[in-house]
Amino acid sequence: MRFKKITEADCLYFNQLMENTRILTDGEQLKRCSSDHTEDFSFVPELVLQPVSTEEVSAIMRYCNEQNICVTPRGAGTGLSGGALPLYGGISLDMCRMNKIIALDTRNFQVTVEPGMITEELQNAVKEKGLFYPPDPASKGSCFIGGNIAENSGGPKAVKYGVVKDYVLNLEVVMPNGDVIWTGANVLKNATGYNLTQLVVGSEGTLCIVTQIVLRLIPFATQDLLLLVPFRNAIQACEAVNAILLAGYTPSALEFMERDALKCAVNYYQSSAVSLPDDIQAHLLIEVDGNDLAQLYKEVEAIAQLVQQFDIDEILFAETTEQKQALWKLRRIVGEAVKGNSIYKEEDTVVPRAELPELLRIVKEIGVRYGFNSVCYGHAGDGNLHVNIVKGDMSEDAWHTQLPLGIRALFREVVRLGGTISGEHGIGMVQKHFMDIAFNEIQLNLMKEIKKVFDPKGILNPGKIFVEEI
Ligand code: LAC
Ligand code: ZN
Repeated sequence: MRFKKITEADCLYFNQLMENTRILTDGEQLKRCSSDHTEDFSFVPELVLQPVSTEEVSAIMRYCNEQNICVTPRGAGTGLSGGALPLYGGISLDMCRMNKIIALDTRNFQVTVEPGMITEELQNAVKEKGLFYPPDPASKGSCFIGGNIAENSGGPKAVKYGVVKDYVLNLEVVMPNGDVIWTGANVLKNATGYNLTQLVVGSEGTLCIVTQIVLRLIPFATQDLLLLVPFRNAIQACEAVNAILLAGYTPSALEFMERDALKCAVNYYQSSAVSLPDDIQAHLLIEVDGNDLAQLYKEVEAIAQLVQQFDIDEILFAETTEQKQALWKLRRIVGEAVKGNSIYKEEDTVVPRAELPELLRIVKEIGVRYGFNSVCYGHAGDGNLHVNIVKGDMSEDAWHTQLPLGIRALFREVVRLGGTISGEHGIGMVQKHFMDIAFNEIQLNLMKEIKKVFDPKGILNPGKIFVEEI
């Protein structure tokens, strides 16, 4: 056995370290930490620990490192690549109780927050001071900021405001051996040594445990306008994305939804917010934001004019807050709605933006070749297309043997187009078998050596990112 099983003696140690209400051993509690939003995987941990301080995380890690007990950090469990799944049992380190804002520095537009805070709660708290933390994954109402750091999450606003990495200034982290360090400084510019902060962002909980996060904030835009454009041809919808950006507009969201994506979402909520005529293949959801409403109206009118060159139906302008919320609610539920319909796999392809129409064409072509149906949607303005492969009536054999070949073929094409195999969901457990498509041996070895420097015994989130045991 690679890792030590947890014994009575280990439990005694944890009991001395922390209140036993934060040491969970009950079957139901273990089950809660056995899965995330990734397909239907379940790996039950032996123990769940809920630390409340950096000191506790440090003591837990020091002990586990000495005892060779594996530890899998856990945010809210909304991940889509299996990052929080305790593949080898051991401890699920549930960060839900470290959920406070430690400091909101309005003079410097910075916030210091613990990893277990819900992203939307953080956004609301800084908004009260007129400040804005833009990255907003679809699950923003339930995901934790710590999980967002682990996955370098994106979301719809990335097209204008960037992704999580663009806001992280500094991190307090606990190393696998229990040492505590800060990775950088609370500054907007930093050319001092290697950029440890950005190495940790997106490292999927495999290098260290993040215990405090310093984020840069920006002033809050007070106005926004939203429109939904129906296209009779899905490839044209993808072409329109670059047409809008090349014309000099910078929407705060530029989202693509294939017909079936929106249909699943509409059915999920029994929503009457949109109609879906038979001849519509895809929609673009376009948002602009700023402080000058008259200017924003001019901008959406110009965009509405520009997309007339494509084969579109009537544009829906969301005028009221309720209408806007209804459209965003539909967009945000697509992933879950598709999952509710069928067994599925979610791929997170990303290409240079101008290649998006070609990517969509290739997805469909490979689907025909390998016999799978896909529902595509995502952050078109970033060239980031979520490809949900639905099992439907595919045979078990085709699903398990043919499909991985189809995904390989798709990822090869993505890389050929200059893209890569995950834009914002991470590699985790489910994409690790495809890392050889994105990276050669030299690159992979470099990453594995970095992992070993941080975690020589390989106790932290084992089985993720790399196929080989590290
Ligand atoms: C979304 C998530 C799945 O964009 O990334 O809905
Ligand atoms: Zn997404």
